Amino acid sequence: MATKWVLPLILSLFIAALSLAAAAKPVLPPVFILGDSTADIGTNNYLPGSTARADFPHNGIDFPNSPRATGRFSNGLNSADFLARHFGYKRSPRPFLSLSATSLQKKKFRGINFASGGSGLFDLTGQSLNNQKNVVPLTEQIQQFSSVKNSLTALMGAAATKKFLSKSLIFISIGSNDLFRYYHSNSSTPKEKFLSSLLFAYENHLKNLYNLGARKFGIISVAPIGCCPSQRIFNATGGCLEELNDHAVAFHSKLDSLLCKLSTDYEGFKYSLGNSYEMTMNVIQNPLPFNFTQVEAACCGAGKLNAESYCTPNANLCSNRDQYLFWDVFHPSQAASKLAAVTLYYGGPEYVSPINFAQLAEA
Ligand SMILES: *[C@@H]1O[C@H](CO)[C@@H](O)[C@H](O)[C@H]1NC(C)=O
Ligand SMILES: *[C@@H]1O[C@H](CO)[C@@H](O)[C@H](O)[C@H]1NC(C)=O
Ligand SMILES: *[C@@H]1O[C@H](CO)[C@@H](O)[C@H](O)[C@H]1NC(C)=O
Repeated sequence: MATKWVLPLILSLFIAALSLAAAAKPVLPPVFILGDSTADIGTNNYLPGSTARADFPHNGIDFPNSPRATGRFSNGLNSADFLARHFGYKRSPRPFLSLSATSLQKKKFRGINFASGGSGLFDLTGQSLNNQKNVVPLTEQIQQFSSVKNSLTALMGAAATKKFLSKSLIFISIGSNDLFRYYHSNSSTPKEKFLSSLLFAYENHLKNLYNLGARKFGIISVAPIGCCPSQRIFNATGGCLEELNDHAVAFHSKLDSLLCKLSTDYEGFKYSLGNSYEMTMNVIQNPLPFNFTQVEAACCGAGKLNAESYCTPNANLCSNRDQYLFWDVFHPSQAASKLAAVTLYYGGPEYVSPINFAQLAEA
């Protein structure tokens, strides 16, 4: 007989505990993520003709709880996930393309991930030569953000939407693919001219987001992409491609000036700029304190530096994956992504400025 009472009692205690937990929980800032494969968590799975995808093994072999190739270019989670974790979430919010028309109205809406592997600041970056849609360029990611704004406005009104978006964190990680494309096309456009037009494109994207109501920008610049395994194999010594790294440094410096200008010209524009170049170089030059033992070769791939093939089901797979900086020929390992997110969140001005991502949330 006693058991009759036990279950309801446990249930009501459980519900009381849940509501206490809910009461104690701080309100999490909504998170919107835009960018390329460094932040893509499965967008390109929804583009049937896309070749820029990772929804097959060995990708996802260390995905939490059970191996699963989600479309992340990683052995597990990526930087978008680890950043979201710092703000109280389990992982990145879902891809925009996975949402149904009614998703926004369900439960508590807490953000969206728009990032698409292979995409760039320029619309042409990452597009294939045939008619198949290969990537979602940043321009289109911002149009999707705009459609989300419209849905939110229909749902809660203009004033509440404005407030919601002004508290939201907008993370953007993009630029590498534009630099790769420029470098490998042997373009006759001088470097200065190319970078100016690239930063002009970035400026327009940021202004568009600002005009839609975005205010808090967490921006991640370009890593030393000349040190990716895919680029090292173009150097006879296996060293980094210096010219490509120089482009990344110049890109960061111009982006720094641009953001500084926008924050003075546009009221309420707040930002934090992560210096991926410095962060990553610091690890490459001194890997052991970070527990990395391999910072040149890819964990998953084939041939020289495991860099002569993509990470396919037949590729070689390393076993000590947390000791590798690179998962595949282009992308950081889960361990490296976790370290990057910690640095963006807590880092000092040598890595993230003028404030870090934790301070941006409070700003
Ligand atoms: C660029 O130049 C390099 C070396 O001269 C060459 O191997 C490569 O095929 C060229 N790329 C294109 C897209 O023309
Ligand atoms: C190749 O790497 C070496 C270091 O090992 C570096 O000195 C050299 O400049 C690199 N070459 C190119 C083309 O970037
Ligand atoms: C490196 O590994 C050691 C031993 O597993 C651990 O105590 C330490 O926290 C790790 N360091 C970093 C930076 O992850």
